[in-house]
Amino acid sequence: MFERTDAHISTWVIAIILFIVAVFLHKSGKEKAMKIVQMILRVFYLLIIATGVLLFSKFSSIDPALYGVKFLFGVIVIAMMEMVLIRTKLGKKTGVFWTILVIAFVVTFYIGARLPLGWNWFAA
Ligand code: HEM
Repeated sequence: MFERTDAHISTWVIAIILFIVAVFLHKSGKEKAMKIVQMILRVFYLLIIATGVLLFSKFSSIDPALYGVKFLFGVIVIAMMEMVLIRTKLGKKTGVFWTILVIAFVVTFYIGARLPLGWNWFAA
């Protein structure tokens, strides 16, 4: 199971859906529901990291530098999702964090799909 990327992909796809749901719940004033979704989302952050670390520990020797950058950007995506939600709740500006989130997501996705396991769309 952890030799493949399916579990890892499932965790970050679910996390992104929960993140979007949390943003919309806030927009419609449903703070309590948002809080619950955010708690579930935090569990998924841990699952993304756990599945990522398992893949990393098994395969990073293939290309330590690129796997290292993948790890770093994956963590940045998670950190920015958390920052956007916290600042949205506090009514603070989120523009910068949304920008970093989108850029970090694109980079993480690109590197993930470039690395040898599973999807291998941009292989050099
Ligand atoms: C929300 C954040 C993240 C996103 C969107 C993401 C996205 C991806 C994608 C698209 C792949 C390629 C799947 C495939 O080729 O089948 C992948 C693989 C991988 N991810 Fe993540 N990831 C995230 C977080 C993380 C984190 C935090 C880590 C490290 C702890 C990590 C480590 C890995 C590893 C080691 C692979 C295998 C790369 C390979 O050999 O193909 N990811 N990820």
